[in-house]
This record gives sequence, C-alpha cells and structure tokens, in this order.
Amino acid sequence: MTPLSAPFPMTRFRRLRATPALRALVRENALTPSDLIWPLFLMQGEEQEVSVPSMPGVVRRTVDRAVAAAREAHALGIPAVCLFPYTAMEHRTADCAEAWNPDNLSNRAIRAIKDAVPEVAVMTDIALDPYNIDGHDGFVENGEIVNDRTVEALVRMALAQARAGADILGPSDMMDGRIGAIRRALESEGFQNVSILSYAAKFASAFYGPFRDAVGASAALKGEKKTYQMDPGNSDEALRLVARDLEEGADMVMVKPGMPYLDICRRVKDTFGAPTFAYQVSGEYAMLRAASLNGWVDGDRVMMESLLSFKRAGCDGVLTYFAPAAARLMHG
Ligand code: PBG
Repeated sequence: MTPLSAPFPMTRFRRLRATPALRALVRENALTPSDLIWPLFLMQGEEQEVSVPSMPGVVRRTVDRAVAAAREAHALGIPAVCLFPYTAMEHRTADCAEAWNPDNLSNRAIRAIKDAVPEVAVMTDIALDPYNIDGHDGFVENGEIVNDRTVEALVRMALAQARAGADILGPSDMMDGRIGAIRRALESEGFQNVSILSYAAKFASAFYGPFRDAVGASAALKGEKKTYQMDPGNSDEALRLVARDLEEGADMVMVKPGMPYLDICRRVKDTFGAPTFAYQVSGEYAMLRAASLNGWVDGDRVMMESLLSFKRAGCDGVLTYFAPAAARLMHG
C-alpha cells in the first residue's frame, strides 16, 4: 500500500507536527514500562553490589539485593527480570556440573525472587558459558564445540531452573535442537506452563564485550563463538532459525544484539507475527552511556529514542540494562 497524499501545498506534513497535542495524536509507536525486561547480574555473598566498570550504572548484586531489584521492577511496572550469574572460578569445570546444581546462584535467586515478589516474571539464561572452564556455551571436545551432548546438559539445566520456579527459560546457546529437547522435557516433567523465549537469531557480536566482563567470562573464553552464533552478514538464516524454534515449541523469540539488527526484528515480526523481543546488549548500553557521560549526547533522550526504535521495528518488548532508568523516566 502506498499512502496517498495530495501534492504540495494541499498536503503539508508539517501541519501535524506543529504542536505537542497533534504530534501525540498521530504518534504511531509508544514505549511503556511493560515492554521491558531488566537483566540482573548476580554474585555470591550478602548485602553487596559491585559496579561493572565497562557498564556505568550497572552492578552485580547478591541474591538479597536482586530480590530488592525485583521489588523495584514491580513498583516501576516492569513485568520481568532476567538473571545472569557471575560464577566463582572454582565452579567452572569441563563438565559444567554447576549449571544444573539446584542450589547454584541462579536457582537460589529464582526461588528467592519468586518467594518475595511472585508477581514479577523471572527469566533465566540457558547456556553453559558461566560454568564452563573454556568459557563456551557448549562442551568442548578436541577443540570442537559439540552439539548433541551439550543439548542433553541444557535440558538438565532447564529442568533445574523450572523446578526452582522460573517463568521464562531463555536458551541463549545457539545449539541445534535444544528448543525441542527442552520443550519435551518440560512437558514430561509437568512444567507445561513454563514458557521459552528462544534466543533464536543470536549473532556472533563484538557488542557482548562488557557482558563478558560482567559475568567474568572474558578471561575464561578460549577462541570465539562463530561456529554456533550467527554470521552478522546473514538475514534469511535468521528467519529459518526463528521458524525452526517456533516449530520446536518456543513461545517467544529474540533477536540479539538489538540496534544493529533492527532489520531482522522487522522481518521476523512481519513473517511470523510471534511475540518478538530484542536484546539491547551490553555494548549498546556501554556506548550510549559513555557518550552521555562525556556530555556528547543527551543520555535520557538517546535512551528513550533507542528503546522506541525497537517498538517501531515490530518488537513486543526489549531486554535492556536501561529498564529501571527508562521506567522511572516514563513515570516522570
Ligand atoms: C551467554 C550470553 C551472552 C549474552 C547473554 N547470554 C554473551 C555471549 O554470548 O557471549 C550477552 C548479553 C549482553 O552482551 O548484554 N550465553
């Protein structure tokens, strides 16, 4: 459909931009706090927060402080938090057994948050990298990241998180076949109502740098993730991955990173109409924050403009480290 308009001067586009009231009336997309998922970094200990140097304003928090953050999310109208553990070095092993320990940091945090603030949905991360001595999302055998054995471990990890009370599982590992395997396990273990938000189109990106600092994976990672994460040059492949994950039982899908991949968000939403999310990742947050701390851009305005871009691109919601700041701004 080509929108129709009379030739100038009968049509003057500036008429509808003339006042705040008219601009508000014709605005096509809006952001609300309920569009946001707030990622939280966890660490061992009590009553502590430690800042992440490459992500100014972001902290790692102990479980009690993560509970406090979940309460804050609830007060701000943010419907979900997503948990990422900073795993102590002694819990990183070649067999990744800590990943499905029912009492690991993530699972303890899930239980504590669901206990204290049941209204807030808890999303998890499913991948072996926080627990793997090699820093990879899958098991490494003779230098190769192996698929099928990794999927079996991911299923154990998923079940441990479901048992802890997670609402939304987030497989972020990019192994083939993991969504179907996790969905079948959830069905047979009585977790029919646990949903899966698949990191379906996750690109091998340099924008994950600050996150790997935050969870202590930068030092651990040997090599790169290009044999399982997507090539940034690809777009059709993203559609095939989303189709595959939806067919295997994903309830929602994600494109990651966000801002450099808005074209993918739009194609995914137009093609499938499924609940679609983008992850505005650590490097995107870091670059906007760094520019604003230098006084080069208006921090609040670039934050809101960047988040609105996801809605315009067709996303139903955004995982963003800006979640509390953006929600506070929206509440005035
Ligand atoms: C790991 C994982 C990563 C992120 C989320 N889960 C990093 C990676 O794949 O190396 C990145 C998030 C961010 O950069 O904010 N499975």
